[in-house]
Amino acid sequence: MIKSFETKRGTIVIREANLADAGQFRELRLFALQESPLAFGQDYETSLDHSPEYWQERLRADDHSVTFVAQHEQTLIGMMGITRRPLPKARHSAKIIGVFVHPDWRGMRIADSMIGMCIEWARMHGVNILKLGVMSTNEPAIRCYERCGFTVYGKEPQAMFYEGQYYDAALMSRLL
Ligand SMILES: CC(C)(COP(=O)(O)OP(=O)(O)OC[C@H]1O[C@@H](n2cnc3c(N)ncnc32)[C@H](O)[C@@H]1OP(=O)(O)O)[C@@H](O)C(=O)NCCC(=O)NCCS
Repeated sequence: MIKSFETKRGTIVIREANLADAGQFRELRLFALQESPLAFGQDYETSLDHSPEYWQERLRADDHSVTFVAQHEQTLIGMMGITRRPLPKARHSAKIIGVFVHPDWRGMRIADSMIGMCIEWARMHGVNILKLGVMSTNEPAIRCYERCGFTVYGKEPQAMFYEGQYYDAALMSRLL
């Protein structure tokens, strides 16, 4: 799956990640974990120790999960994953995870485009509901998800503990 669109800074390609992206994906992910620690369950220090094989494995797509990347020229500038449990009673429902757009490229609706790809993938794979969790304080992200048709269905109290503080998560869903 691949699509491209124009921004004021050039053409952006949104596509499925492949194993050859592992090196750049690692760099972007490590940057993201430092720049936006509240956006991810994983932490920078643990991720730093992962092997090259770990990063390749993360990008291996199958019927139950895929990672999409946003690319400008040869550089990865955004990422987003979608995943579901393969169980017959759970495979109708998928989660959007690992959402990040590099700060230099924010405000250009790149996340919306990646969500569009996830929706397309989900429909092709028989998924009929998408879910995600986002820290309640992350207003730009919540606005982006609302624009893409997600609504809040609940709140997870103390979903994250970071630097001595608890953060609640807004739980959002979108029927397909
Ligand atoms: C949330 C995020 C993925 C949105 O990506 P995006 O492609 O910039 O999305 P949009 O273009 O729709 O912009 C979203 C909001 O960012 C804000 N924005 C615009 N320009 C911006 C800039 N240069 N820098 C930061 N934020 C900006 C705007 O408020 C915009 O919302 P609005 O148009 O409703 O006012 C991105 O901001 C990001 O990676 N944030 C850090 C990680 C994160 O929060 N991930 C989500 C975890 S659930």
